[in-house]
Amino acid sequence: AWRRHYKFFVKEASYTRLCATKNILTVNGQFPGPTLYVHEGDTIYVKVHNNGRYNITIHWHGVKQPRNPWSDGPVYITQCPIQPGDSFNYKIIFSEEIGTLWWHAHSDWLRATVHGAIIVYPKHGRSYRFPKPDQEVPIIFGEWWKEDVREVLREFVASGGGPRNSDAYTINGQPGDLYPCSSQDTFMLNVQYEKRYLLRMVNAAMNEILFFAIANHSLTVVGADGSYTKPFTKDYVIIAPGQTLDCLLEANQKVRGSYYMATRAYSTALPFDNTTTTAILNYDGYSLPTTTSPLLPSLPFYNDTTAAFDFLGNLRYPDPLLFPLNKYDTRIISTISVNTLPCANASCAGPNGNRLAASMNNISFVSPFIDILEAYYYHINGVFGTQFPRVPPLFFNFTSTNLPTILLTPKRATEVRVIRYNSTIEVVFQGTNLVAGLDHPMHLHGFNFYVVGWGFGNFDKKKDPKNYNLVDPPYRNTVIVPINGWAAIRFKAHNPGVWFLHCHLERHLTWGMETVFIVKDGKKAQERILPPPRHMPRC
Ligand code: C2O
Ligand code: CU
Repeated sequence: AWRRHYKFFVKEASYTRLCATKNILTVNGQFPGPTLYVHEGDTIYVKVHNNGRYNITIHWHGVKQPRNPWSDGPVYITQCPIQPGDSFNYKIIFSEEIGTLWWHAHSDWLRATVHGAIIVYPKHGRSYRFPKPDQEVPIIFGEWWKEDVREVLREFVASGGGPRNSDAYTINGQPGDLYPCSSQDTFMLNVQYEKRYLLRMVNAAMNEILFFAIANHSLTVVGADGSYTKPFTKDYVIIAPGQTLDCLLEANQKVRGSYYMATRAYSTALPFDNTTTTAILNYDGYSLPTTTSPLLPSLPFYNDTTAAFDFLGNLRYPDPLLFPLNKYDTRIISTISVNTLPCANASCAGPNGNRLAASMNNISFVSPFIDILEAYYYHINGVFGTQFPRVPPLFFNFTSTNLPTILLTPKRATEVRVIRYNSTIEVVFQGTNLVAGLDHPMHLHGFNFYVVGWGFGNFDKKKDPKNYNLVDPPYRNTVIVPINGWAAIRFKAHNPGVWFLHCHLERHLTWGMETVFIVKDGKKAQERILPPPRHMPRC
């Protein structure tokens, strides 16, 4: 039976990983949290009771929530936090999504342990476009710190430097048997020869893009970010925080045995955790020997940008486009940078004693004290400005090594961009080489967008659009902008509301690499934001 109402109790629970026990924040005591199962087009309600000690909100990542920003979740963007002892009933409206999405906390760093998968089946009575799997398996990647994550956040904000690395990546909550004390609990997928498995992958890690592979097995990608893709087969995948992939796996190895599945970082920014996290694919009837380890897959090297973008270049939308891509109304070009700001203490851990920051078009976003949606809806002045991206895109050689030092220090402000209903928007994200050149997974709430182009170096307004894919570009909610490069997306602004746009690397979000798109109401009643629910949390 398919339920429409769910209860999430946010509460502490004790978990042991890497030989140490600590309390973590969970939903219903589970880590990773409960999986939500829905069908295409459903509306469900999730009542979130905050039985923890900290303010929290929950976001339904990749669910477009047509006209319903009230339940989107990012703290101080669409709602005030749910305070301890309080609750909020989220109304989650599914429309065109199909495949795998996820939910996660969207305040402080609580999403490290407060997250889970959302599985969207085809409409009742319909089947998948791809061959029917015999079994479906969520594969959730995460990151584990031995320390309390709130403490990790507090320390790094206070120091002005980068956050400390996590102590391990996890697969379905487990660091795997290459770590001490972990072998008993390593995630194991038991398979039968000649059966087909649908792996529903979610990257819930905080700060790293990941490679993943299974020894001796290839993966056929059939979906990404809650949308079908043209199927293609690879022996590894790359997945950024915020992204999901649906992959078919054929258990086709005649040698019944066990094979490692493994993940490790794709990262061009040091330092990061380059250890390998494993899980086991085990053929039925085979019992694991105690002396020999399973075969490890070969994963691309941690800085193999070619492997990363080879994979991404295969993603294609399989259907006629949802709107014509050959025209757009507005092009917004924004740099995305890591910067520095003066240090309030004597000396911070960032370059030259400064503290690290991040920005879009050199505006480092400052979180307001009441949410932007409320301020917009009730016409409360003084909460945000509408000047994003404020400065016309400055034309520097953003990816050169000696950029003007004025670009190092961003302006701190709460600036949004107001967008006309139903206009077609192009956004070009331009990576820079300011403090560190690296890949940024940029995520937009309220929409999927077509990734029409990307490249290395500086975006060239004249040349690059000529090479856009306007025929079958992938339809995603999170795009990896290449290191020292750019990516261009197009979407139709037919979802009125207040929608967050940010880097899904948690440290960059904390530093200010974000802005907000406010899509105005259309003229007709069904083109306007829905009325607010009766009880919104108060700030
Ligand atoms: Cu995964 Cu702002 O979200
Ligand atoms: Cu980033």
